[in-house]
Amino acid sequence: MDRILIRGGKPLRGTITIGGAKNAALPLMAASLLTDEALTLSNLPHLADISTMAKLLQELGVEVSMDGDAGGGGHIGRVFRLTANDTSNTTAPYDLVRKMRASVLVLGPMLARTGHARVSLPGGCAIGTRPVDLHLKALEQLGATIKLNEGYIDARAENGLKGAHVVFPMVTVGGTENLLMAATLASGETVLSNAAREPEVADLAKCLVAMGAIIDGIGSDTMTIQGVESLHGATHAVVPDRIETGTYAIAAAITGGDLTLVGARADLSESVVRVLTSAGVEISKTGNGLRVARTNGPLKGADMMTEPYPGFPTDMQAQIMALMAVAKGASMITETIFENRFMHVPELCRMGADINVHGASAIVRGVDGLSGAEVMATDLRASVSLVLAGLTAKGETLINRVYHLDRGYERLEDKLSACGADIKRVPE
Ligand code: UD1
Repeated sequence: MDRILIRGGKPLRGTITIGGAKNAALPLMAASLLTDEALTLSNLPHLADISTMAKLLQELGVEVSMDGDAGGGGHIGRVFRLTANDTSNTTAPYDLVRKMRASVLVLGPMLARTGHARVSLPGGCAIGTRPVDLHLKALEQLGATIKLNEGYIDARAENGLKGAHVVFPMVTVGGTENLLMAATLASGETVLSNAAREPEVADLAKCLVAMGAIIDGIGSDTMTIQGVESLHGATHAVVPDRIETGTYAIAAAITGGDLTLVGARADLSESVVRVLTSAGVEISKTGNGLRVARTNGPLKGADMMTEPYPGFPTDMQAQIMALMAVAKGASMITETIFENRFMHVPELCRMGADINVHGASAIVRGVDGLSGAEVMATDLRASVSLVLAGLTAKGETLINRVYHLDRGYERLEDKLSACGADIKRVPE
């Protein structure tokens, strides 16, 4: 298993290109199940999770072809053509689903198109129990009959789904996406209240509209969908990754560097921009992205709480904690979305951070500097927070279990080393 070795202390300078958002790409790929015509997706990131979704879709009879790429030698901005002609297999097997929870996104579209879907229950994961009960209850409201047996969700709607008013008791990104896709082919009107407003949900809704769906209220917490008989093919470019953007912005800030993030969009990351600015990071718009620098003095501590969009994203919590670990003063970071999402804390503390966790909050008392150590990655965002800590730490940081990083960050070492970081992948 590969490890990542970082010799910290080098300010990053240069340009990093931001890829398409993983969390938009996954539901968009699942949307191909809604039609027998080709869905062409461009600006897809080159990541393990994308390959897992492609494999799952192939298993479900979708023809997946690489339609060239938009530059970057197969890395940047890949283009996939997805054609769901053969819908005879409606089982998403445990083997693929257990690798990635987002596999459950095939449930809604497959059920709506074929009247049947059998999807393995995703099971637990490192950052909490993460059930899918809200997806299932909402599909039942659209008339599906759902049984759980032998570890599988067995969903049926032989006579098709019927529009209904679904009020989500709590905001769920995946639940909103599954229902949005299912409702496009349900008969009549579906209203989704307390829907997730994440930009990735809006990106999916826009693509569905390009495929012939009728959706009102995109980007708001109430979406109204008028079901149609069938959808058709479309071409769609995946929205830029706001979490990758925020992560590299912190890389610039934590090293006292100056990075231009090409393709980054401030309008997708307002809460993160606000926190970074209050911590003393300079952020400005450029013609094609954002410039992030920290050249004037020390970082200042700032408080934040993770919330559904447009609040501060839980997927940026671990990274901001690494930054606050070296800021002047104390910061309070509260996690409201997932239980057990502080697994990076003991690892950051091994590098010299002063962090105390009390329930869902962490008190971070800034220290003058971190020191390199051998640490363990536990999940995707926790791993990258250790990379960020390693970039500023004195000495060598060795990160184990880096396969987590490959699920969500495209060519991380290449992008960072091109800007002056001393980082490399080493075999164990
Ligand atoms: C998505 C993102 C993930 C991000 C999360 C929150 C993808 C592929 N993943 O995950 O990176 O961290 O949004 O922004 O887009 N819940 C239930 N029952 C359900 C569904 C969810 O209790 O049926 C709970 C979850 O356990 C969690 C909260 O609701 O505590 C939010 O989860 P949700 O928004 O559904 O996250 P995902 O879609 O899994």
